[in-house]
Amino acid sequence: AVGGNYVDAVTADGLLDMAAARDVTPAIPDYQDYAAYRAEGGYGMLEACRAGRWTPDTVADTLLDAGLRGLGGAGFPSGRKWQFVRAEAGPRYLCINADEGEPGTFKDRHYLETRPHRFLEGMLIAAWGVEAEAAYIYLRDEYPAVRRILLDEIARLEAEGLAEPGYIRLRRGAGAYICGEESAMIESIEGKRGLPRHRPPYVAQIGLFDRPTLVHNVETVYWIPAILENGAGWFAGQGKGEAKGLRSYSVSGRVKEPGVKLAPAGISVRELIEEHCGGMAEGHTFKAYLPGGASGGILPASMGDLSLDFGALEKFDSFVGSHAVVVLSDRDDMKAVAVNLLKFFRDESCGQCTPCRVGCEKAVALMQTPEWDVALLEELSRAMMDASICGLGQAAPNPIRSVMTHFPDEID
Ligand code: NAI
Ligand code: SF4
Repeated sequence: AVGGNYVDAVTADGLLDMAAARDVTPAIPDYQDYAAYRAEGGYGMLEACRAGRWTPDTVADTLLDAGLRGLGGAGFPSGRKWQFVRAEAGPRYLCINADEGEPGTFKDRHYLETRPHRFLEGMLIAAWGVEAEAAYIYLRDEYPAVRRILLDEIARLEAEGLAEPGYIRLRRGAGAYICGEESAMIESIEGKRGLPRHRPPYVAQIGLFDRPTLVHNVETVYWIPAILENGAGWFAGQGKGEAKGLRSYSVSGRVKEPGVKLAPAGISVRELIEEHCGGMAEGHTFKAYLPGGASGGILPASMGDLSLDFGALEKFDSFVGSHAVVVLSDRDDMKAVAVNLLKFFRDESCGQCTPCRVGCEKAVALMQTPEWDVALLEELSRAMMDASICGLGQAAPNPIRSVMTHFPDEID
């Protein structure tokens, strides 16, 4: 997706004219500025932390009690990350992942374009929590308006004395999906090609410039001030069933009102469509959905009552990930959807390991034959899942396996 006004620099062939793109001035949305955020009590929690009314341990415990999990997509308990990083000797760093590359995901953009200071306050609390030497924001360059907003508002924070000049460092991504993988992002910030590292060691131990690093997604830190203000119970209590907290679902596809929908964790796609998206688009019947963007597989409408929460879909070879819900209808061809997704992974594979580099390419070729060789595709998928270095190659076969499991009639 092209953000801001870059769309004006797209040629008739669908390519980005780089010279024209350089001249683009992004339209700046009407966002909540520093004064307005201050007026509603903003930065009160950061000041309370810095004044010693909270300790890093009590904040980490509060985040754990609230059930705040990594909202980039992995759902790792946020407070645990603080504990891991704090257990390591300094100097330490904070990196915010604002690369938001998962197809169908646009919630971070929404928060950055509406309430950037809520995000910045959460980020500075996280930096305080691990006594970070510096806070890096890795922002995808397709969000030029967000870049402008952050540059202006970071300067304002420096002028107000809330951040030391140069403490918050905004880095530009260069359009590679893989640079949203945390260790590839770190390599990129270090000025190298964005190749994922082997894990362990985790970035909590050896991260940016080989130092212990706390990596959080934009939305994860966005919720920190509100959780401290309102209490862990306030956040935790908003989930459905076993799920805890609120989630920002980026809903797209065949619904009447797509967009970012703030809803309870654990809601089902059917509830999302009916209660938050005005129902299906005119003339479309709900057939299937992608619960977690390109990576989380494809589920049939008959599984539309499942809980959209971390861990709830794994038994169906699927996951909710960044909560990018793409709704598909009776007019969509599941094979074509899966081929499209695999072409995306093929193009975005960093090429470092053979199962992913060659596997994605072979999968696309096999999927474009009139009849799928199910046994061969299953074997290939298994090799990719078992032997790829990072999540890209491990998750890439999900759409293939989804079609084979849930839509066998469409394969022939
Ligand atoms: P992961 O589960 O391997 O790691 C999650 C986080 O927990 C990382 O920060 C990792 O360092 C940390 N962690 C895990 N185990 C740890 C341990 N034992 N000690 C210390 N730290 C530990 O997941 P990963 O590969 O980082 O992310 C995968 C998810 O990312 C998928 O769900 C996918 O949907 C999502 N994703 C989101 C995108 C977006 O645009 N938001 C783009 C691409 C993928
Ligand atoms: Fe690169 Fe794919 Fe291997 Fe990840 S799985 S390291 S993206 S080649």
